[in-house]
Amino acid sequence: MKTIILARTAGFCFGVTRAVDTVYREAEQETGPVYTYGPIIHNEEVVRDLETRGVHVLPDRAALEALKEGTVIIRSHGVGRDIYELCKNNGLKVVDATCPFVKKIHRIVEAENAKGNCVVIVGDPHHPEVEGIRGWGREDTAVIESAEDLVRQVPDRAESLSIVSQTTYKLSKFNKIVADCINLGYHIFCFNTICNATQERQSEAQEIASDVDAMIVIGGRSSSNTRKLAEICSHECKKTFFIQTAADLIPGCLARCDRIGITAGASTPKHIIEEVQTIVGSEF
Ligand code: F3S
Repeated sequence: MKTIILARTAGFCFGVTRAVDTVYREAEQETGPVYTYGPIIHNEEVVRDLETRGVHVLPDRAALEALKEGTVIIRSHGVGRDIYELCKNNGLKVVDATCPFVKKIHRIVEAENAKGNCVVIVGDPHHPEVEGIRGWGREDTAVIESAEDLVRQVPDRAESLSIVSQTTYKLSKFNKIVADCINLGYHIFCFNTICNATQERQSEAQEIASDVDAMIVIGGRSSSNTRKLAEICSHECKKTFFIQTAADLIPGCLARCDRIGITAGASTPKHIIEEVQTIVGSEF
């Protein structure tokens, strides 16, 4: 008799589940055209499925500017204030699926600027979430990945700085950057806005993998967070299988494995996880 241990944190985090559910609900209820500003998640299958239900992806700002009617859904990463204004000016209906944890950062940025503080975001300047956060701040909002970046962008060390973080940033890296900035003499108010969904998913996967005969990690080959999960699991469990869907499971690969763990990357839909769970549970 096989025992299957499915990770509680497998698949979408809270914010992504909420955003994807919102799009499916709108697709069903809305009679007019529905769009997402950027793909709702990095999963082609989900995006294709939504296309068949009449939900189209607006790839960039130019596409949004050209749009004069319909509903625009803002994804979990959030967007800057200007995008809401653009939608309003174009007469578009906005359905906001920004993750509440990201929304909270937008509010911090506004409040800190209102106090007269300069805002500094620790994160990848090209990541849509960071671009969105920046879009709630003043012109002088800095985006840094090191103390040297801060020196270049905010040379005046007498400035009062309020530091926030991209939600998926690594805590140890964030702490080091903040400490380095303080050592350089900057006056800093620090807001740790890191979301621990990724960290929790990794810790749980590691814990399960250390206690099973075989571990299955489900997710796209190009998904960096899934690859990281597979790497963590293979350190703990030699029989770790990295698959994209149930079809990738080779018959017999779980022979003589009594305890089997399953986890999945952040953009793996629930039905794929369930399908794998069912197949593994049968006499596979
Ligand atoms: Fe997910 Fe929201 Fe955290 S989108 S990773 S729950 S910030």
